Order: sequence, then structure tokens, then C-alpha cells
Amino acid sequence: MKKEERKQLITYRNPTSPVSEQFKTIRTSIDFSAVDSAFQTILVTSPEAGSGKSTIAANLAIVYAQQGKKILLIDGDLRKPTVHKTFFKNMYCGLSNVLTDQIELNQACQKTEIDNLSVLTSGAIPPNPNEMLSSNKMTAMLEELKREYDLIIVDTPPVTIVSDALVIAQEIDGVILTVRYGVTLKERIKQAVEQINMTRTPIIGTVLNGVSEKKSNYYYYAYK
Ligand SMILES: Nc1ncnc2c1ncn2[C@@H]1O[C@H](COP(=O)(O)OP(=O)(O)O)[C@@H](O)[C@H]1O
Ligand SMILES: [Mg+2]
Repeated sequence: MKKEERKQLITYRNPTSPVSEQFKTIRTSIDFSAVDSAFQTILVTSPEAGSGKSTIAANLAIVYAQQGKKILLIDGDLRKPTVHKTFFKNMYCGLSNVLTDQIELNQACQKTEIDNLSVLTSGAIPPNPNEMLSSNKMTAMLEELKREYDLIIVDTPPVTIVSDALVIAQEIDGVILTVRYGVTLKERIKQAVEQINMTRTPIIGTVLNGVSEKKSNYYYYAYK
């Protein structure tokens, strides 16, 4: 991986750093919030773009894979996908191609250099992401993947801008809401929470991203 991309994957590059420890704390908090049975599908979203959804989804996927669990990270952001860049994978062999029957699901899930971690990239950017993500085919695909993987983490677009994350959330066990310290407006957070609550999928945690290392250790997890 190139240096720039590796920077985002701190849990891989430097697994014992304070930031990586914070990701393990998030992992533990998620595990503790699953009372009856472990979450098998988690979605990461945020009120607006640039709050660190993709960075957090990728690092969370890595710390779970480091535990020896079989993990799949899905790029559900069919508008501004980044998973292929972060992991140096083929973008054009992914989710949208599976949903339009162009390729088989098992061909589309690509192994990464990280043990136990596979990714499903966005595929070619479609004109109708919302319809694709709300299709029966998407539901069936997730069911099939749940038989194959211990945990599936889905990266999504911002929730107050398009409803893609909300349609996926209906098929998902829990939502992680990422907000950027000093950037995300309270009003926007409230709006995002209200929208997610309408799906009846629980918000299992909120990650406050971008807190300076002096104040905290870069990421802070508010346990709900
Ligand atoms: N805590 C942070 N400190 C500094 N840069 C960050 C932090 N979190 C994310 N970034 C950077 O901000 C940019 C947007 O992050 P990204 O995870 O792609 O956000 P989103 O998926 O919500 O749009 C990326 O370049 C990423 O490397
Ligand atoms: Mg993103």
C-alpha cells in the first residue's frame, strides 16, 4: 500500500498506537452493547461528508479481523466510494455489479493483505444507488454474506444528504454514527439521529472523530 493510504489504516500500520487502542475500545464497546447475541451487521454513517466514516469503518474492520473473526467491509457509498482506494482493490468488481447480476457474489468479495479481512468495493457508480440498495437482491445478498462472514461492516454516504444509509439500515443490526469534533453541527446530529431512529435499527454507538491527541486520543467513543 502507498504511504498516503496506509496512513488511514493506522490499526494495520501501527496496531499498538494509542489510536489503535481507541479502535479496540470501540470494538469492545460494540461487543458489550450486543446483549442477546453479537451484532453480525454494522453500518457506519454520519450526518455529513468528511466526518471520517470510511476511515472508521476500515479501521474497525481491521481490529475485528485482528481478533481472528472473518470480516467483510462493504462499500455501500455508491456515490463517493473509497474502499477500493484504501485497500488498493478493483472498484469495478463490486456491489453494483453483483446487484445487477454482472458478477457472482463470491467473485466480487476480494481478499485484502490483512488476514481475515475481505472487501466488497462499490462497483461502477450506478445512476440509481438508492433503488439498488433498497432492492430485494440487496437483502438476499446480505443474507448470503451473513452465512459466510462473522461480521459485515457497511460504509455508507451521509445520512442527512441522501437516504441510502437509511434504506440499508433496515437490513442491519446496528448503526455507528460518526461525528467530527468541532465541525458537525448539533442540529445536524439531531436530524441524523431522528432519521436513523425511524428505521428502528438501534444506534449502537457514536464516534466523535478528530479530537486532538492532547484532549483525548484522536477518537473518542461515546457509549450509548
Ligand atoms: N481524525 C482525523 N484526523 C485527521 N484526518 C482525518 C481524521 N479522520 C479522517 N480524516 C481524513 O479526512 C478525510 C475524510 O475522511 P473519510 O473517512 O473519507 O470521511 P467520510 O467517509 O465520512 O467522507 C480523509 O482524507 C481522512 O484521511
Ligand atoms: Mg466515505
